[in-house]
Amino acid sequence: MSAELQERFGIDQRIQIVPGPTDSPHVLLRTGRAEAAISLYGGQVLRYGYDDQPQIVWQGEHVQFVAGKAIRAGIPLCWPWFGPHPYNSQKPAHGFARLQLWELLESGADGEAAWLKLGLSDNEATRSIWPYAFQLELLVRVGEQLEVVLTTTNTGDRAFDLGGALHSYFAVGAIEQIRIDGLDGATYYDQLSKNQALQTGPIRFREELDRIYLDTTAACTIVDPTWQRKIQVAKQGSHSTVVWNPWIEKAKHLADFGDDDYLGMVCIETANAGPDLIRLEPSARHTLGTTIWTEALA
Ligand code: BG6
Repeated sequence: MSAELQERFGIDQRIQIVPGPTDSPHVLLRTGRAEAAISLYGGQVLRYGYDDQPQIVWQGEHVQFVAGKAIRAGIPLCWPWFGPHPYNSQKPAHGFARLQLWELLESGADGEAAWLKLGLSDNEATRSIWPYAFQLELLVRVGEQLEVVLTTTNTGDRAFDLGGALHSYFAVGAIEQIRIDGLDGATYYDQLSKNQALQTGPIRFREELDRIYLDTTAACTIVDPTWQRKIQVAKQGSHSTVVWNPWIEKAKHLADFGDDDYLGMVCIETANAGPDLIRLEPSARHTLGTTIWTEALA
C-alpha cells in the first residue's frame, strides 16, 4: 500500500510514504529545517519539529502503534465528540476519527512548505457508532509553522451537533518550569473536581490538571525557560481550549507514556468541548484549525 502511495504522492525528499508499524502507512515530511510524521491511521500528526531544536509536537519514546487503539502522541483528532460520549460509555472516548484509516487525497510542496490533504467519509463502521453522513478533510502543512485544519461537511439530510478537538501534545523542557499564557480571565470547567473556576494569571503545573477553558478564541503561548523558547498555538473555529497534564499516577497507567513522560509534555487542545458544540445543518461546513510555531525566549 505504501509503495503505491509513494508512487502517487511522494515528492523527492520532501514527502515520503513509508510502511508504518501496523498495516497503515506513515508520511514523512521534510522541508527546510522542519520535519513531521503523519499516520494515515487516525489522520494524525505524530510529531513535528525543527532539526536544530528539541521536538515541538511531542511523540514520546513509549508510543505504541496498535490497530484499533488510539495513539497518545502528536495531534490525535477527537471527532465528532470530545471526551466520553455524552450518554453511552460503550462508544469510544473522543469519538472515532482517531481510530479510522484515513485516505491520502493530495500532496504538494511550495516554497518552504510541504503539505498533505487527508480525507475520511462515513462508512459502515462509523454509521454503526454515529448515524450521520459526513465528509472530513484534513490539511497538514509543514514548514516554519505547522498548520492543521480539519473541515467537516454535513453531507446528509439531517443536522448534527459537532464537538471535538485537535488534541495537541507539546514537548516541554520541564513541566514545573513552564507557564501557559493566553487564558488569564477565562472561566474553566475543572474535569477533576467537576467545578467551574476563573483563571487568574498564567497556568502553572504542580499536579494533575485537566480543564476545559470556556468561551475563548485566544491563542496560547507555552513559555519554556528550560529550552529558552516559546511555543505559540493559534487557533480558528474553536471556542474552547483544553489544557491537560496527567501527572504522576495517571501517566503510570497510560499506554504510550513512560512513568516520567508527564515531565516533558503538555496538551493544549484547540477544541469545541463541553457546552461548546457546533450545530451543523445539511451541506454546512465547519473548520477547526491550529497554527503552531516557536520563538526564542527574549
Ligand atoms: C484530554 C482529556 O483531552 O484527553 C482528559 O481532557 C483525557 O480527560 C485525555 O484523560 C486523554 O484521553 P485519552 O482518551 O487519549 O486517554
